[in-house]
Amino acid sequence: MSTPRPETLAKLTPVLTKRWLSPDAWKLDVYQRLDGYAALRKAIAADPDDLIQLIKDSGLRGRGGAGFPTGLKWGFIPQGDGKPHYLVVNADEGEPGTCKDLPLMTHDPHSLVEGVIIASYAIRANRAYIYIRGEAVHAARRLRHAVDEAYRAGYLGKNILGSGFDLDLVVHSGAGAYICGEETALLDSLEGFRGQPRLRPPFPATHGLYASPTVVNNVGTIASVPYIVLGGADWWKSMGTEKSSGPMIYSLSGRVNNPGQFEAGLGITLRELIELAGGMQPGHNLRFWTPGGSSTPLLTADHLDVPLDFEGVAAAGSILGTTATQIFSDQDCPVYATYRWLEFYHHESCGKCTPCREGNYWMVRVYRRILSGHGTQEDLDTLLDTCDNILGRSFCGLGDGATSPVTSSLQYFKQDYLDYIEGRTAPKLSDKQLVGA
Ligand code: NAI
Ligand code: SF4
Repeated sequence: MSTPRPETLAKLTPVLTKRWLSPDAWKLDVYQRLDGYAALRKAIAADPDDLIQLIKDSGLRGRGGAGFPTGLKWGFIPQGDGKPHYLVVNADEGEPGTCKDLPLMTHDPHSLVEGVIIASYAIRANRAYIYIRGEAVHAARRLRHAVDEAYRAGYLGKNILGSGFDLDLVVHSGAGAYICGEETALLDSLEGFRGQPRLRPPFPATHGLYASPTVVNNVGTIASVPYIVLGGADWWKSMGTEKSSGPMIYSLSGRVNNPGQFEAGLGITLRELIELAGGMQPGHNLRFWTPGGSSTPLLTADHLDVPLDFEGVAAAGSILGTTATQIFSDQDCPVYATYRWLEFYHHESCGKCTPCREGNYWMVRVYRRILSGHGTQEDLDTLLDTCDNILGRSFCGLGDGATSPVTSSLQYFKQDYLDYIEGRTAPKLSDKQLVGA
């Protein structure tokens, strides 16, 4: 395992991760000793509109994948409309490779609770929800414990810290469907319906939970808020790049020596992240990687110096997404990896629209054919044609995302497909696995 150079180590900026190594930081007394709830005391004395302006000034962009400006989203909530407003935290982290929210909620749940209270105060919501994926049992337990402690300390409930502001916070566990991470499916699920996406527009900002104005934000977005309140917009902007401000938690998995979470200013490169992760595993050379989960087009060893911010990754032909960088080597097969991701999308497709439901079904069949040695050149055209009929024609982002590994692996690694088709690579699947495809 190689040791990172001091100049690369200096790129680490522990902000959201700074308490993760403090034992018992998930308990209120420890959290308070480490600055906890200082931001709330400051925020609750401020005007809610000033808080929205602060978040706008900081340039904070959503950490769930899309990177939408947070302050702008908060500003969409109509004021004086007489309707209840809601804040919903999307903690349904389910994108393959993505694992930044779970450790945050496990090690530092109060930072999320504190962010929820400040954000709710800013958008004038008196009820908030954290929608956490069903499998995240331990994180949900920690969150519920933190919420109970916050109620007992007067940070939640009636007349918070004597401000006259009331807030109830509910932690709601989903049932483990990837689609419930799509914000409108999440809202349907929260209302007790089967989780399926709604038509947008209207966006949740005006027609959200129970048809009322609702801000839906990712865990990392809301957990950033207390730091911005304490540190100020300029401090936040001093990290990251001009259009992608602040620190970001990059999740490295796969063929590196020391996989895990690395928090650094937006714009760090994969070359630097791999160095921080102790280098590639012995005998492995980087071949392909996802910049932000499997819904983002694959990049290759030629993209090691792409700045990992929203603009840099877009310029390289991909999407920053959830900054889940899954690292694959020359010993991994891009065709097989894509097939495994497609099986996931096929399984998780909610079935509401035809392009995604049928398209993913057919693509899985084609991949099984190729990987069992029965593929043809026409299969590659079929894959591209199917992607063309899914992308931009699906009801929600799941369908679009499913095409990313297919089109990008065909763009960069067509020869790997041809090697299966022309018999140079031994089949990875047996004829038995082809049956039922
Ligand atoms: P989007 O770009 O459509 O919307 C982003 C946010 O901005 C939403 O909250 C939306 O309501 C709001 N918004 C956009 N335009 C608006 C307008 N005109 N008025 C009011 N609000 C507006 O992106 P989407 O579909 O919500 O999310 C896609 C992203 O999710 C992908 O980039 C992907 O990386 C990520 N993703 C994350 C997963 C995870 O586990 N964290 C799982 C799967 C996908
Ligand atoms: Fe459902 Fe897929 Fe259509 Fe989204 S794209 S609505 S997940 S079938």
